[in-house]
Amino acid sequence: PASLDALARKGGRRFGSAIAWNPRSMDSGSVQNPAYAALVQRECGLVVPENEMKWQWLRKSPDSFDFSAMDGIVGWAKASGLAVRGHTLLWHRPKWFPGWLNKYDFGANPATEAERLLTTHIRTVTARYGAIIKSWDVVNEAIDHDRNAPIETSLSRAMGSPEAVLDIAFHTAREAAPGAELVYNDYMSWEPAHAKHCADVLRLLEGFRKRGTPVDALGIQSHIEMFSLDPATGVGPYREREWRAFLDEAVGMGYRLLITEFDVKDKALPSDVAVRDAKIADYTRRYFDLMLGYEQLGDILAWGMVDKYSWLQGFAPRDDGREVRACPYDDAYAAKPMRAAIAASL
Ligand code: XIL
Repeated sequence: PASLDALARKGGRRFGSAIAWNPRSMDSGSVQNPAYAALVQRECGLVVPENEMKWQWLRKSPDSFDFSAMDGIVGWAKASGLAVRGHTLLWHRPKWFPGWLNKYDFGANPATEAERLLTTHIRTVTARYGAIIKSWDVVNEAIDHDRNAPIETSLSRAMGSPEAVLDIAFHTAREAAPGAELVYNDYMSWEPAHAKHCADVLRLLEGFRKRGTPVDALGIQSHIEMFSLDPATGVGPYREREWRAFLDEAVGMGYRLLITEFDVKDKALPSDVAVRDAKIADYTRRYFDLMLGYEQLGDILAWGMVDKYSWLQGFAPRDDGREVRACPYDDAYAAKPMRAAIAASL
């Protein structure tokens, strides 16, 4: 059967997945796991490093870069004929800053020093990988969904505002990686408790346009769950109409769209695997059908291909203690109904 990437290409898109570099364990969603690597080679046209490009991994100290893991992924991708996306040049959130950056002494001219750190980072990383990476998540998750405001960090305090940091990140990326697609990536929470998150993202996107900040596309993470698309559970509101209105506003401002981190959070679904998988496939089908209705949608990436290696096993475990069935393939590398749903939508 045709690969997911081959199906996506018929619509002028590409299909890809996150992959890790993990020399310590073959039992992970990594290049070092031959079965996982082979599955990604078979199904995908592009990959994205799950963690290896984040500051915590690349910047163990202020004046050093450790490219070993990232080089490993890129070398393998090249040899496999796979494209690579960059994730991410700046996850603007203290939790995802290296420890040293959270307590950094910016000295007498804090704005200048913060700008130097940030621009050096972006220039160095794009210079090293610019020949292979043509699409970058320049900024990841810059909104605090509890405070409904852009997140403050050591960098934003030094530079005066979060917007100043984000703008410089995008301008630097445009200059250092001309011709590359520059993406603002976010999860757009669908949880009723975070009802204003999407509106805050739109305001951020609007600000980019007003200030002339070079942002080409909105990356939609797409860790989907019942809050997004299930009219039957009665637990969350049926959000399809709001979701379309959100997408319409984003494309109306001229943004292209990507699905950057697709998987399904199945916390609220029944234990029974067959029942659960059918429901997951149903969410997937409806989500992809909706998203593929937008000609502005480009690359589509899953956040991992095999259930047991999904980050959701730790981040959003089920109450019944069973494994989360977040991915297109099960632990025996057999295609699940989710895979068929994606293929049918593409
Ligand atoms: C996650 C990784 O999958 C985990 O291994 C890591 O511990 C935390 O980050 N949104 C993002 C991704 O943009 O970078 C996150 O990846 C998942 C949520």
